Amino acid sequence: MDDLETVLLDYDDDSGIGTLTMNRPDSLNALNGQLSRDIVEGLRRLEERNEDADGVALRAVVLEGAGEKAFCAGADIGGFSSDSAGGSSARSHYQFIVDFPAPVIAKIDGYCLGGGLETALACDFRLASEESTFGFPEVNLGLLPGAGGVQYVTKLAGPAVAKELAMFGDHVPAERAGELGIVNRVYPGDEFDDEVASFAEKLAGQAPLAVQGIKKSARVAVETGLEEGLRYDREQFSTLLNTEDFEEGAAAFSEKRDPEFEGR
Ligand code: COA
Repeated sequence: MDDLETVLLDYDDDSGIGTLTMNRPDSLNALNGQLSRDIVEGLRRLEERNEDADGVALRAVVLEGAGEKAFCAGADIGGFSSDSAGGSSARSHYQFIVDFPAPVIAKIDGYCLGGGLETALACDFRLASEESTFGFPEVNLGLLPGAGGVQYVTKLAGPAVAKELAMFGDHVPAERAGELGIVNRVYPGDEFDDEVASFAEKLAGQAPLAVQGIKKSARVAVETGLEEGLRYDREQFSTLLNTEDFEEGAAAFSEKRDPEFEGR
C-alpha cells in the first residue's frame, strides 16, 4: 500500500480512518504532477478497503503534510511550466477529493498556500493549528489560483474576502481564517493532534451511508439550484430509510444505547 513516491498511506482497521500524507517536506509539500497523481492513487487504494468489506470500511480520510512547516506551499514553482499544479495533469486530485465518497479532513499545520489551500478547500473539513497561515500568493507571480480558490472562498466567505486574499496575496493567520469561515476549527498546537484524531474518530463513527449522502447533498447545493438540491435530498432520504443503518439507529434509540453503524 505504501510504495507511492510522494505520499505516505495509513489505514486503521478499528476506526476505518485512512491517513494520506503529502510527503515532499524539502519543498514544503509543493504540488507537482507526481504528488497530484499520487494523492489520487492513494485515495483509490484507501477506497479499495471497501471492496471486500460487508458495508463501508473506509469511514474518513485525514489529509496532511509531512514535516514541521507546511500542509502544502502550493504549486511547485520549479516545475510550473510542465508538470505542476498549473498544468492539467496536476489538477486531477482536486476534483477527485470532491467526488470521493468518504469525507476528507484537511489537517493543516503550517503553510497552506495557493494550490495547497485549494486542496484543503476541496476537502470536506479544514482543521488547523494556531500556527498555520493561509493565502493565495499566485498574484505575486502574475497568476490567479487556478484550481477554484476564488470560487470556493467566494462561496464560503463572500467575494470581498476572496478578492482580498487573491489580489493582495497576503498570508492570513489561522484565527482569522477561522473567523472568515474558511477553516472549520483552529486548535492550539499542543492539542492539535489529539483534537484532529477525536474529530476524525467521531466522524468515522457516524452512519457512513448518511455521511456520504450529506457530502453529496452539500455539493449539489453548491453546484445546482434549490429545486435540484431538494429533489436529491428527498431521494437520498428515501434510500437511507431502507438501510440497515437506519434500522440500527432506530433500534439503538429505543434501546437507549449507542448505535453501531456498518454502512449497509
Ligand atoms: N514550490 C517549490 N518549492 C518551494 C515552494 C513551492 N511552492 N515553496 C517552498 N519551496 C521550497 C523552497 O524553495 C525551499 O527550498 P530550498 O531549501 O531548496 O531553498 C524550501 O521549500 C523551504 O522554503 P523556504 O522559502 O526556505 O521557507 P520559508 O519558511 O522561508 O518560507 C514560504 C516559506 C511558504 C513563505 C515560501 O517558501 C514561499 O513563499 N513559497 C512559495 C509559495 C507560493 O508562492 N505558492 C504558490 C505558487 S503558485
